[in-house]
Amino acid sequence: MYDPLSAENQLALQQAWRQLQEVARQELQLDSLEGQKQAPALDIQQAFASDGKRQQRFSREAAGLYVDYSRHAITPALWSGLVTLAKTAGVEAAAQKMFTGEAINHTEGRKVLHSLLRSETCSTEAVSAEYQQVQQVDERLAELVEQVRTGQRCGYLGERFTDVVNIGIGGSDLGPAMVTEALTPYQSALKVHFVSNVDPSHLVNTLAELNPVTTLFVVASKTFTTLETLSNATSARAWLQHAAGVGEDISSHFVAVSSNVEKAQAFGISRDSIYPMWDWVGGRYSLWSAIGLPIALAVGWENFQALRRGAASMDQHFLQAPLDDNLPVILSLLEVLSVNLLGMQSHAVLPYDQNLSQFPAFLQQLTMESNGKRVDREGSVLARASCPVVWGAAGTNGQHSFHQHLHQGTQSIPVDFLVPLQSHNPLDDQHVHLVTNAMAQAKALLFGKSTQQATKELLQQGCSLEQAEELAAHKVLPGNRPSLTIAFERTTPETLGALIALYEHKVFVSSVIWQLNAFDQWGVELGKQIGTSIYQEIQIRRGGVDAVTAFDPSTEALLQRLLKTEQCPPLTSPIRPKEAREVPAC
Ligand code: F6P
Repeated sequence: MYDPLSAENQLALQQAWRQLQEVARQELQLDSLEGQKQAPALDIQQAFASDGKRQQRFSREAAGLYVDYSRHAITPALWSGLVTLAKTAGVEAAAQKMFTGEAINHTEGRKVLHSLLRSETCSTEAVSAEYQQVQQVDERLAELVEQVRTGQRCGYLGERFTDVVNIGIGGSDLGPAMVTEALTPYQSALKVHFVSNVDPSHLVNTLAELNPVTTLFVVASKTFTTLETLSNATSARAWLQHAAGVGEDISSHFVAVSSNVEKAQAFGISRDSIYPMWDWVGGRYSLWSAIGLPIALAVGWENFQALRRGAASMDQHFLQAPLDDNLPVILSLLEVLSVNLLGMQSHAVLPYDQNLSQFPAFLQQLTMESNGKRVDREGSVLARASCPVVWGAAGTNGQHSFHQHLHQGTQSIPVDFLVPLQSHNPLDDQHVHLVTNAMAQAKALLFGKSTQQATKELLQQGCSLEQAEELAAHKVLPGNRPSLTIAFERTTPETLGALIALYEHKVFVSSVIWQLNAFDQWGVELGKQIGTSIYQEIQIRRGGVDAVTAFDPSTEALLQRLLKTEQCPPLTSPIRPKEAREVPAC
């Protein structure tokens, strides 16, 4: 059961926070420590000038990832205060608890064992039962992947599958979709698609390109109760039955991944096509489980294993490296510095890799569904801010959009640059341009452009002194804006696995420092409950029955409009199958 920090350790933690704030006050010359969204008062450029070893001092490498955090507003003394905070918060002990299967998700009474899914061995007896379960499901998954990819498992007319549609949302979509795209160079001819939104356009647009006879559906839902997933799966089943003439037996075209085997069976999926997961795997941490099936179908079982191996090597680093050298701890401490000492509530993550363009969306769920919390593990309102808003987009696209705000906006926003040094698609010097741009952005954020430089440039461009002085202010970039760079050789399954695990553990470390539970998500439930009650009321009123439930005026007005304009077509009509394509028979 949940074991809170002892009273003594709580006192030590409060003391570590006070000492850290004092060091920050001195080192960063801050008057007010919380709530100020300006650039840090520490002159980072000056810190480089006065410490020839700064770059080496504040960079580390593990599991194929090189992390340079020397451009953050840290000094050796401040860093030491942050590391002491992590130690005092009990990060090492908490990591042990997670890996050895304590029920650290105490509000749901659950273990948190996603790391076990990628572990090659079972290091402790305490989790051996779970380890056995993983091995058994893995055997079945590997077999299915092989069968689908080689054409041994076919559709009901004996034709080889050309397309897989994963139907799932949140953790049952974002991780697999992000990884599948990130590993595009490893994909085979089998095309994997993802449908998540309850908006029918998502399903209709996807199916419009597909032949039902050669399409396999993976219904991915831990609970098998999620509205979006069940709605899309039901429509997909109807499409299959009507467009392909499958009839009642859809079993050859549907597999499920779920911890709710009964519900999946009731949907019509045969028991031997249901791949279980367990309550000790959180949705947003589940891509390593059978939820990763679409990844394995797209890139093959061996590449899926390589992804897991990369993550496992980050797990070992997290468990073994001293806090000061520990990449997840380092990333978390930079977050604590930014949020709690510098008052920054926004965090941009910018992959300079088109194939990683879904990484920010994946990271949003991982970070904000985990740490977007306002009370600590004991239910008391947090004394300090917790999770920042995480966002981002692939470089260089963002440079022609929101980078304006990063460079000249009134807020200073810490940035993580993710940079593969090699491309899978070398094309002239395009990749060198890509990496150069990442380097240039980090440099521009730090060094900025002074009034003097701006004025000089304007004069060189032929402006009069008066014009130059007038325009200069608009061209100034204040600089001193923090960033870190994570560089790796290439986006391979291994490096991607390590990168994901790095951020998973970073989120965990922050949760330990903030003393909150990163593994529940009660905040998303209320909207689901209200949605259900509104839908029930719509069903009642459709028959001309008077209102049963009184809603607030704003909801009521929109409801009235919806009832006036509502369309309710039969399930199959909007989804027209594409002409059957030529496919090799099994
Ligand atoms: O609504 C949030 C959430 O519960 C996520 O945590 C989860 O990943 C997602 O919904 C999907 O849930 P399921 O896999 O049970 O369909």
